[in-house]
Amino acid sequence: RLSPVETAKRAAARRAADLVEPDMALGIGTGSTAYWLIRHLGERIASEGLRITGVPTSSQTAELASKAGIALVDLEAAGRLDLTIDGADEFDSALNLVKGGGGALLREKIVAAASDRMIVIADKSKHVETLGAFPLPVEVTSFGWQSTKAAIEDLLPGHDLLGDQITLRLDGEAPFVTDGGNLILDLHLKRIGDPRRLARDLNLIPGVVESGLFIGLCDTVVIGHGDGRTEIIG
Ligand code: A5P
Repeated sequence: RLSPVETAKRAAARRAADLVEPDMALGIGTGSTAYWLIRHLGERIASEGLRITGVPTSSQTAELASKAGIALVDLEAAGRLDLTIDGADEFDSALNLVKGGGGALLREKIVAAASDRMIVIADKSKHVETLGAFPLPVEVTSFGWQSTKAAIEDLLPGHDLLGDQITLRLDGEAPFVTDGGNLILDLHLKRIGDPRRLARDLNLIPGVVESGLFIGLCDTVVIGHGDGRTEIIG
């Protein structure tokens, strides 16, 4: 038996998987909710012969998706994508997102931006009034990361936040390294009053590759509940 949270994730993922149409070029997200999406797409491929091509947002997703029978292509080969379906760590009612809990935010954002539509799949605990309780991941180059961290520290005052701690993400004892070979700083901000302005200002700092703030990229969220119900916003 699945826990209520897993039931919610699976329900949201299934509802989104059912929105996928034949011959779509699909961006495929990363994480435990995307896992269920890939499983349901695999079932549709097996049972109805659904034909789609997929662009994975991480090496982990690439492996799962190819096992599920999804034909994978490079973003270069795919060009524009019809739809991306991905999880999120937080979303607000304006459909701004915090992503990158799994460390795949850079590819996730590039793929989402190359898509005509983005659908987020999430259990209802991810719906927040104000972003920021989840630490904001920021991908930075390993070269000079301490200087980049100092520049971010200097930027934070005046940004309507409740916290300012910044930690280097670790994988055991060693720094966590992204698929792009970069590092992740987690910004413990507690409350992000103006996500658009913070996203823009972070991206102006040399050494910042990308932040986990997804502004104006998500069109629709499919929310799953613990009893298996789903609702759609956007
Ligand atoms: C991966 O980098 C993240 O952006 C994920 O999309 C996010 O962490 C959601 O993951 P879960 O579905 O596992 O909560």
